[in-house]
Parts: sequence; structure tokens; C-alpha cells
Amino acid sequence: MTIHSAAALAHPNIAAIKYWGNRDQLLRLPVNGSISFNLDGLWTRTSVSFQPSLPFDELIINGHEVAGSALERVTLILDLVREMAGIQERAEIVSENNFPSGAGIASSASAFAALALASSNAAGLNLSERELSRLARRGSGSAARSIPNGFVEWQMGTSDEDSFAYSIAPREHWALTDCIAIISASHKKTGSTEGHALAGTSPLQAARVADAPRRIEICRGAILERDFDSFASIVELDSDMMHAVMMTSNPALHYWLPASVAVMQAVREWREAGASACYTVDAGANVHVLCPEKEADELAMRLRKISGVKEVLTAHVGGPARIIEE
Ligand code: DP6
Repeated sequence: MTIHSAAALAHPNIAAIKYWGNRDQLLRLPVNGSISFNLDGLWTRTSVSFQPSLPFDELIINGHEVAGSALERVTLILDLVREMAGIQERAEIVSENNFPSGAGIASSASAFAALALASSNAAGLNLSERELSRLARRGSGSAARSIPNGFVEWQMGTSDEDSFAYSIAPREHWALTDCIAIISASHKKTGSTEGHALAGTSPLQAARVADAPRRIEICRGAILERDFDSFASIVELDSDMMHAVMMTSNPALHYWLPASVAVMQAVREWREAGASACYTVDAGANVHVLCPEKEADELAMRLRKISGVKEVLTAHVGGPARIIEE
């Protein structure tokens, strides 16, 4: 009996220009392009082994067997891999995150990036970065951006073939840090997948989407030029526009808590006083405060003093998804 296996590691990423809403929910073709950077130090490690004796795919996350919708989402990716490789075997998938799943940091990006890489390798495929990004996208949109190195742009594309992410600058290009102010560790009421499906119900979504190419241009330019002031203003505008859409969807999605607002307010004040920092918030209450690496210690210290901030995690810019020893 031959067992084909491989293991991979991938980082989560933080979006500077956000993905919110799909033109095709099943294929995860987004309504706008997005830009992010990978978060070093935080990772998902996944091993996949195809075994002829298994009747079903088996998923183990952080030591616990998982069934239901999470397993179905994983099986969808494995089915795509089996089809490409022309194999039938079911797989055992063992996945671990080094960040607590309750910390409110989305693990779907790193999880599906690691799964795409490990499963395609285990099946004997040697996919290009572009093909891997497309495959990861089918599991979770933001996972497309956890495949390439460093600073990454996901082009919306016109179809499954050209909706993928690529690196616009390697991780060494710009020493930035994400100081993640943990405000709520509880699971979000409405996850991203449901949220994407509601985006179109907000009358503000059309305006957000129409203006996205302009924000992408400014953000890409700011990253390439290492222009923090320009980066800060476009990042905050983009996050605020996404939350305006969330708050005006039907049903409305309110992710901010009072402490989230307190952190955003403090960041604006610190910037006015000369600090280099900006905020961005995903589909949860935690606030990601982005800053040059040399300002991170001081900022993290200040963030810890804000009432309602439970913990601050810091992450520098991370590398691409990669194969690791099992
Ligand atoms: C607010 O990639 O988590 O973090 O494709 O349904 O898995 P699914 O959604 P997901 O959405 C990310 C939404 C966001 C913004 C972003 O990361 O671009």
C-alpha cells in the first residue's frame, strides 16, 4: 500500500485593501481586487496523506476530529486536487494553528493556503504559484493571498483562470509590523462567507466597489514607494468603507465594539501627534494597527493600556506558503 503525503506551512495575511463581496460566491470571484501582507510568526501547518484504505476524508484540527461544514469545505478542495491528479484516494488531513482559533484572527487564509499546497504536492502535482493561489481561493478568498511572498495583490480577474494573487514586493521590501489589539476572543456572529453574500444588499457597496481600482493604485504605489503617510490614509479609508457597507447591509453587520472605536480614535490622535500608525479592522472587533517595525514596541505598549484591549500580538511581514518536512 502506497501512502502519498506532504506537509505545508502558510501564514495568515492582513488586507490593506479589503475583499468584501463576490460576483460568484461558489468560485469566490470577488467584486474588487485586494492587497495584503503575510503575517510572519503566525502560521497554519497542514499535512495531507492520501490513503487507499480510507473510506472518507478525515480532518483533524489542533488535535480534534472535525466534521460538518468545515470538512465539506476541505473535501471540495481535495476533490479539485483528485480531479487534477486523476486519483481517487481519500485523505487524512492534520492541521495545526499556532495562534488560538478563539483569538479572533481568521485562520481560513492560512488554512486553505497550506491545504492547497500540501494536498497538491501529496497528489504528485507540481502546481505553479498562480495555480496554487487559484486553488486556495476556492476554499477561502483571502487564502489566495497567503500563497505568494510578502506584499500581495489579488487581481479580481474575469474568471476562475485569472482571479489569483501575486507578490508585488518581497517581505524584505518594507519593515512593517501588525500590532493586533485583541478585543474579543469570541467567535464572530456572522462569518465572512455569509457577510460576502450580504454585501450587495448595502446601497453603499456599489460606490465602494466603483472606487476600488483607485484605492488599489494608491495602496500599491504607497507600498512600492514605502510612503507610510499615503499608505495610512488609504488603509483607514478602505477599512472604514468596508465597515460602512457592513453596517448598512440587510441584515446589518456591526463588528466594532466600544474598545475597537477607542483604539481607532487613539491611533488617529497618535498619528496627529507625529507617530506612524494606521488601523484596519476585519470581520470582527479586533483592531490591526500597522506601523513601521521600529515603532512597534512603543505602540504595542500604548495599545495594552487602552481599556478593553485584552492582549496585543505583533507580526512582521511574512514569506510565502511553503513545503515543510513532515
Ligand atoms: C474582512 O476570505 O475570510 O477579512 O472567502 O468566505 O472565506 P471567505 O471569506 P474571507 O474574507 C475576508 C474578509 C476580510 C477582508 C480581507 O481579508 O480582504
